Amino acid sequence: MATQTKVDDLLKTLYTMAFLVEARDAYTGGHLWRVSQFAKRLATAAGLSRKEAAAIGLGGFLHDLGKVGVPDAILGKTDKLTDAEYGIIKTHPDVGIRVLRGHPLIDFVHEAILGHHERPDGRGYPHGISDDSIGVSAKIIGLVDAFDAMTSSRPYRKGMSLEAAIEQISMNLGTQFDKKFSEIFIQLARAGELNDIIGHSDSGIPLHNCPPCGLVVTVNRNLQAGDAIFCRVCGHGHQFVTDSKTSTLVLSSEILTGSPTDLIADIDHSLLGELIDETAPYLFVGKARWWNWRGLK
Ligand SMILES: [Fe+2]
Repeated sequence: MATQTKVDDLLKTLYTMAFLVEARDAYTGGHLWRVSQFAKRLATAAGLSRKEAAAIGLGGFLHDLGKVGVPDAILGKTDKLTDAEYGIIKTHPDVGIRVLRGHPLIDFVHEAILGHHERPDGRGYPHGISDDSIGVSAKIIGLVDAFDAMTSSRPYRKGMSLEAAIEQISMNLGTQFDKKFSEIFIQLARAGELNDIIGHSDSGIPLHNCPPCGLVVTVNRNLQAGDAIFCRVCGHGHQFVTDSKTSTLVLSSEILTGSPTDLIADIDHSLLGELIDETAPYLFVGKARWWNWRGLK
């Protein structure tokens, strides 16, 4: 059995890889954290164990690891993709598995990475499997990944309202989205139990919009009043100031001029450490229900 230190180290490599892939895509700030949190909360509400929920949360972070193999020109394209470009996008589940082949923790996330774009009606990818052939973690992450894409803003469109996203899920029950998990997720959403995740990039840290271009900027949890943040899309910077009415940090409207180093993507190591602490204790005790569990020797 692996020591806890080894598990922590292995998790650190996985989370770091996930953050690096996310850092390439400046439009999706906080997406992996939100998918992971939505997935854990849904798994728990569906009656899965803390261990299963922890593994699904890890899968939420790693589901798009294979996007490392998708060229920037396709990943960041805002126009409609050609069939050939979409064909390249569709390779990312398989690429993710190839990247992690032989990794001691792959069994916890294999199903989530490979299956998160499969659909109950068999019209998903990469293998077009349907319904019962799709694993629980893949069903959950497929659903919450789509929900976050719907409710988040992109350069070419504004995010949908919560009700509009619920409507989209409701219209596609059993075809695009798993019926059972979708119904539980909709209940959570309607009860306001996802409000601390939607529009956030960390616990208690809402996303901010860059004043000139309107796009999302992600805030490190250690950021304080007086610090500056720079938008990695338009390159403009703003200082954080404390709003006198709400006592929260807001971006000042004054535009700063930054240097190239201000646009470097940053990994939030304190968030990463907390994620490891939340995940590690649950991964190596007993067996999960639906994984071909191997564990560490
Ligand atoms: Fe994906």
